[in-house]
Amino acid sequence: MRLTVIASLAALGFLLAGPMSDKEVEVYLEGMRAPGRYYANIDAAEGVWLRDLARSVQARRALEIGTSTGYSGIWIALALRQNGGQLITLEINQRRHGQALENFRATGLDALIDARLGNALEEVPKIEGPLDLVFIDANKPDYLRYYEMVLPKVRRGGVIVAHNVENLPHQMSDFLARIKSDPKVRTEFASPGTQGFSVSYVK
Ligand SMILES: C[S@@+](CC[C@H](N)C(=O)[O-])C[C@H]1O[C@@H](n2cnc3c(N)ncnc32)[C@H](O)[C@@H]1O
Repeated sequence: MRLTVIASLAALGFLLAGPMSDKEVEVYLEGMRAPGRYYANIDAAEGVWLRDLARSVQARRALEIGTSTGYSGIWIALALRQNGGQLITLEINQRRHGQALENFRATGLDALIDARLGNALEEVPKIEGPLDLVFIDANKPDYLRYYEMVLPKVRRGGVIVAHNVENLPHQMSDFLARIKSDPKVRTEFASPGTQGFSVSYVK
């Protein structure tokens, strides 16, 4: 309840004063974790980590597969705002896509986020490279298909990040086997929260 009130005040502040500062966005993100506003999002420590990774590869063109309510997209967008970049994010569920649009508008980050409603398996082939960062966080058994679709679009030194590699590895065993053996990438693993990321740098 308290977080919802804080987030509402922060959104009202945007209407009155323009885009939120990074600190205000972080308060808004806390509010997004309130019951009823949350859907399978990464956790807060993972959000910080993802933002810092996007900064470290100097991402300007980023793609997210699996928007949900926009929580991780906002963390990525914080890095892109600093780098002068743009995010395309894909979501198949109309309701969550709508919630994400509201959240992007409320934070004032909507100008740098192109949120598309649709099936990523159909939408990704329409997106042109080069991309600097791809974040895969949709249907787990499809991770290998997403990976194969995006790999040719990611620039050398760019990165393909995937979520839930620690808590749901059995749902993506073909993907995990590929990223560990594919000579086109160098893969590391990171555990800033409880669910785990793979981080595949394109050679
Ligand atoms: C784990 S949630 C994403 C969480 C989000 N990345 C975050 O941390 O805020 C996965 C989302 O992927 C969406 N999804 C699943 N299959 C999809 C597909 N084929 N195309 C687009 N979105 C899909 C689901 O509807 C769900 O909202």
